[in-house]
Amino acid sequence: MSDQPLVLGIETSCDETGVGIVHGETLLVDTIASSVEEHARFGGVVPEVASRAHLEAMVPTIERACREAGVALRDLDAIAVTSGPGLAGALLVGVASAKALAVALDKPIYGVNHLASHVAVDIVEHGPLPEPTMAMLVSGGHSSLLLVPDVTHDVRSLGATMDDAAGEAFDKVARVLGLPFPGGPHIDRAAREGNRIAIDFPRGLTTGRDLERHRFDFSFSGLKTAVARWVETRQRAGESVPVADVAASFQEAVVDVLTRKALLACKEHDVDHLLIGGGVAANSRLRALAQERCDKAGVTLRVPRPALCTDNGAMVAALGAQMVAKGRDPSDLGLPTDSSMPVTLVQA
Ligand code: KG4
Ligand code: ZN
Repeated sequence: MSDQPLVLGIETSCDETGVGIVHGETLLVDTIASSVEEHARFGGVVPEVASRAHLEAMVPTIERACREAGVALRDLDAIAVTSGPGLAGALLVGVASAKALAVALDKPIYGVNHLASHVAVDIVEHGPLPEPTMAMLVSGGHSSLLLVPDVTHDVRSLGATMDDAAGEAFDKVARVLGLPFPGGPHIDRAAREGNRIAIDFPRGLTTGRDLERHRFDFSFSGLKTAVARWVETRQRAGESVPVADVAASFQEAVVDVLTRKALLACKEHDVDHLLIGGGVAANSRLRALAQERCDKAGVTLRVPRPALCTDNGAMVAALGAQMVAKGRDPSDLGLPTDSSMPVTLVQA
């Protein structure tokens, strides 16, 4: 093989046990075991259930990844693992497993930030990242706008959600509409039959004063409440709820704000590449509107395929491989987990 680093990445920050193997900028395998079905009846991820599921899935998932990639563990150059942010117990399972592998194989370990990994994964999809890149991460746990001069050590936060994450808003509104968890894909599907200008839902933090103080921050809890009130009013009046129209109008409010702020950030920071990642990047209307607005602004849009947008191990391996390639020092073997790891800290 070439002198490109061969890195195995482990991701356990939420309910996905992800193991990926990357060779330089090439994805060899991306293996996932998800406990999402065990959480569905609770309408959200139950941390202890997730930790236990990671424990059970870890060894079989590592074995499957190596088998499918035709890689022997001893051939790896490094192990990378998500050290935060995420659910404390879930992170511990991944980091302990990575440490065990690193010790047993005598390989370096890289504890990396989950959010920077969401950015780095696009390298295995669309090639090297232009420096700087603007990145918008939207998932069930995070909504952030990041200026990324170098994904291995310089990630700057321009703004983030002040309350609910974008995906969380999708999940909560889905519940109000009687759609299953996780709600994002169901709203996306229902919205295709609906009218996105049927109801004028609020666009959080977009008025003049808000833009002064929270230029690149997001807020979705007011929108969620507005949808719930609108639905309640209809129900109380004994009228039926037009689910498709509500879904389409709600979705439009979210993606309008996200794309507007992302492109404003590109313009003001003079960046001509926008990357969108995280589970909500799978949303068809977000992709379409982002493309439309990027085209108009002369910005190149990069969105990884949906399986690489949601949590996975390949993204951790991709960032680890960049770290090795750029000659960054490995983490200490005593590296901690950090459930609230700041986005600006790329490596633990
Ligand atoms: O990145 P992810 O798999 O996990 C984390 O939260 O880190 O994102 C999951 C979130 C959920 O809230 C889910 O409803 C949302 O992404 N999601 C979507 C779509 N697919 C997944 N939201 C809107 N439209 C979609 N098509
Ligand atoms: Zn994530």
